Amino acid sequence: MKIIMETFAAVAAVALLAGCTDKIDNAAVIAGIVPAPNEIVAGEGSFGVKGASFDLAGVRDEKSSAMVKGFVEQLSKTSGKKSKIVEDKADFVFETSDAIVSEGYEISVTESGVTVRAGDYNGFLYAVQTLKQMLPASIYGNVPVPSDAWSLPCCKIKDSPRFGYRGVLIDDCRHFFGKEEIKRVLDIMSVYKLNRLHWHLTEDQGWRIEIKKYPKLTEIGAWRDGTQVGKDRDSSDGIRYGGFYTQDEIREIVAYAESLGITIIPEIDLPGHMVAALTAYPWLGCSGGPYAVRTSWGIADEALCPGKETTFEFLEDVLGEVADLFPSEYFNIGGDECRKEEWKRCRDCQNLMWKLGLKTDENATREQRLQSYVTSRVQAFLATKGKKIIGWDEILEGELAEGATVMSWRGSAGGIKAAQMGYDVVMSPNNYCYLDYAQSPDLDSEPLCWTNDPERALTIEKVYSLDPCRDIPEEFQHHILGVQGNLWTEYVPTPEHLEYMLLPRMLALSEVQWCAADNRDFDRFTDATKGHEYRVLDILGYNFRR
Ligand code: ACM
Ligand code: ZN
Repeated sequence: MKIIMETFAAVAAVALLAGCTDKIDNAAVIAGIVPAPNEIVAGEGSFGVKGASFDLAGVRDEKSSAMVKGFVEQLSKTSGKKSKIVEDKADFVFETSDAIVSEGYEISVTESGVTVRAGDYNGFLYAVQTLKQMLPASIYGNVPVPSDAWSLPCCKIKDSPRFGYRGVLIDDCRHFFGKEEIKRVLDIMSVYKLNRLHWHLTEDQGWRIEIKKYPKLTEIGAWRDGTQVGKDRDSSDGIRYGGFYTQDEIREIVAYAESLGITIIPEIDLPGHMVAALTAYPWLGCSGGPYAVRTSWGIADEALCPGKETTFEFLEDVLGEVADLFPSEYFNIGGDECRKEEWKRCRDCQNLMWKLGLKTDENATREQRLQSYVTSRVQAFLATKGKKIIGWDEILEGELAEGATVMSWRGSAGGIKAAQMGYDVVMSPNNYCYLDYAQSPDLDSEPLCWTNDPERALTIEKVYSLDPCRDIPEEFQHHILGVQGNLWTEYVPTPEHLEYMLLPRMLALSEVQWCAADNRDFDRFTDATKGHEYRVLDILGYNFRR
């Protein structure tokens, strides 16, 4: 009897601290989660979390435990009542479970408490993100708002992503955004369970990563003498522009991303898109220069010269340094939009093509095959660093070695073909995933952007409608690793503008990446976004299109 009484007293005491709930609309709260969980059963009632206690003893790894403690602190701060970590009789119990798939998690909320299970760091992280999405948006802020309804709806959630690769590309070259803005991009990616940042770090218009062995890449290559004005490619504002990341800054950003469950995949775009490097080291090119870091947009005629062995020495040095900075298993080697006219005129390139016996036939030109030779040498080198390559769909032209992953950008055709040939694929078709396109066909209402054609505008609804596996026979669909949105920045000069182009379309992307095909519903998504998510974005201070 005594034991029962004590237990009752303990339960009653806990109920006074937590448990006593503010009234919430369970269905509305659950419908507000973005990306929508793949299995969720709503119950009756709710559980109050103000001052709730947490038992983290069942979380096996330190990193996950520290991350959940961060959530506990945030809850204390914003709900206005301190939560504690306790050894038993906790309101929240977090446990590691080996039965849960990678990045998956389970949450059970009843009127007497909350249980959270996951198998790995991202699983716990996403469970926390989902809990936060079910709480008042003030959980994302910095000030106590005790008057909010600090309750979770009773429910059972069993969630895991459709795709393992859920990415965004940031072009940090056409315009340079810097460490703080990249961290803000990572922050908001993590809220919506994206896990890959494809960081476009080298371009004709600027080289953005310090390379110790080739200091001129940033001393010279990170700076241009001006930037074209508007759409006029013959114009320049004449203002010196540039910037780059030191290797220490890169390491800091990589570690920051890791804490948010995000792997950063660097891109060193080759053999085209290399004018900044050619300007720094003209011996890398066919003509020997001189070159100038480009001040206007569009595709350059110049490329690296594969006919000179010194070019490969340079590439191995550079890729080696970059590979050592990024723990990612993938390395993006670009490969897009390489004009090859210079190679046709270059004696060194001609000699190499002759030596390799490269011929033009109905499948590819000898210059395309020369690019394939570059790709395969780079691929072999990066394999010695433990890396697999990803490249734009042009790498399919000529011969592509086994083990490469193709990023389909010129629509989906390249990805469909690659998957059927047995290559892994990331889908980022420009007609659904190019976040530099206008968000509305009413171009006058939008800032200057890449597209002049209202029919190519990329509305949030269009992003949402992407079916990444469409037209791919079922037996090849496992090659689709995931989906990526690409934010090229020719017409995106500031951090505020970057966020405007990203948001809220990235939220639509998150449902394409995370949700099972039959679990998507644009009306539900729109209500969720315009309701809870706009408040989240406001509290976090992002600039976004309403
Ligand atoms: C690309 O948009 N050039 C990959
Ligand atoms: Zn050459």
